[in-house]
Amino acid sequence: MLSQFHINAVYVIAAILFILGLKLLSKPKTARTGNLLSALGMLVAIAITLLSKEIVDWTTIIVCLAIGSVIGVLASRLVALTAMPQMVAVFNGLGGGASMLVAWVALFGSADRFVAVAVILSIVIGGVTFAGSGIAWGKLSAVLASKPLLFLGQRFINAALFVVLIVCAVLFVLEPAPTSYYLYAIIGIALMLGILTVLPIGGADMPVVISLLNSYSGLAACAAGLAIDNVILIVSGALVGAAGIILTNIMCKAMNRSLANVLFSGFGAQKSATKVEGQANPITPEDAYLILEAANSVAFVPGYGMAVAQAQHVVHELGTLLETRGTDVTYAIHPVAGRMPGHMNVLLAEANVSYDQLLEMEDINPKMNAIDVAVVIGANDVVNPAAREDDASPIYGMPIINVDAAKTVFVLKRSLASGFSGVDNPLFFNSNTRMLFGDAKQSISALITEFKD
Ligand code: TAP
Repeated sequence: MLSQFHINAVYVIAAILFILGLKLLSKPKTARTGNLLSALGMLVAIAITLLSKEIVDWTTIIVCLAIGSVIGVLASRLVALTAMPQMVAVFNGLGGGASMLVAWVALFGSADRFVAVAVILSIVIGGVTFAGSGIAWGKLSAVLASKPLLFLGQRFINAALFVVLIVCAVLFVLEPAPTSYYLYAIIGIALMLGILTVLPIGGADMPVVISLLNSYSGLAACAAGLAIDNVILIVSGALVGAAGIILTNIMCKAMNRSLANVLFSGFGAQKSATKVEGQANPITPEDAYLILEAANSVAFVPGYGMAVAQAQHVVHELGTLLETRGTDVTYAIHPVAGRMPGHMNVLLAEANVSYDQLLEMEDINPKMNAIDVAVVIGANDVVNPAAREDDASPIYGMPIINVDAAKTVFVLKRSLASGFSGVDNPLFFNSNTRMLFGDAKQSISALITEFKD
């Protein structure tokens, strides 16, 4: 039997691996190593827990491990990159659900008031995470309508449920028991709150919600760790909780919206009143080629449309063609371009674009007026000057990539339609903007053909 000292020593190693992993995950270049280190930390933590606790027999453990591993490998191989937010939603939900069950089991031992409080916290947060993540998954995978579902008295119902939850929690803590009716009521209310709080949020805001639910799943695990007195569960849960909330905050800041606005405003339910009119200047691939061919510097600015068109490989091909002709090529990345954190980084990395060519918004903006051509590929909100200039606009104050400062701007999209925020974009009507209408992949491919001919 392992001593508590040895177990804790191994837990410290696992915790160090988690922290190093998180640190490395913050840069695209080191993210793979970070992921591996974190996974190694988890393996170490699981192995020592199983060895020390002798929870169930080894046959059960090995069979469950094999089933879990097959599901994990299949999911990572089969799920498309664009479906990653849905997959993370499922993971978060299962994490919340697992914490809930672990905490419940803790009640079957001798549960004092402290354990009862930890159990309730884990069950409430885990339940909200489980049910909320299910709704987030449904909205993202189009099983449920993605638009915000708002109905009269919604907030009143949530507040009333919350009050009943608090009352049941107090009554439960006074007399904790694994089969208490108060406990069943708490589980039911937590699940309902998870559903009711995510339904009014629009599908496109789901990445923020998922990041928040990720944080909740960490907090639920942390509380479960307190309930069963397991140090590594407390530490890893707290790390996930902190990382999730930091990411949520980064996303909200990059959209210039408060978390309360994301959670409660029903963003996307109404379209913006700000209308922009003017004459857009379309361009053909043949004419666009002539301008690109003469450019000394080109900045590609990808957005959600590049992901939809799956244009990343052809964008890289065009970038390489330009580079071989001596053009300086960069890729400008907005922190909330696309629909999930790091969306553009992941797509460009998949197409083997060098990390050195990726520039963050803060780094490209001061150089933008020296760029000959900014090629906007399916981006809209993240290059919308209304965010800078129109204080009546719903996206006013959101930092953008200032492509309008470049000498010439090509915007590759299928129409003059607005993006996620529903806000019109005056960029399309600027005198230095040329609209290259069509699917981004087809437009870029047409440009490549011009270069090759
Ligand atoms: P959007 O503003 O959503 O614009 C995307 C544009 O892509 C659309 O206007 C669309 O125009 C075009 N498009 C779609 N399919 C295309 C195709 N096949 N070929 C060419 N173009 C295509 O995207 P963005 O600029 O990346 O901004 C992201 C938005 O999502 C921001 O408002 C951000 O706040 C929000 N958001 C982001 C995140 C994260 S974490 N990234 C999370 C939540 C919300 P057409 O229909 O005319 O082609």
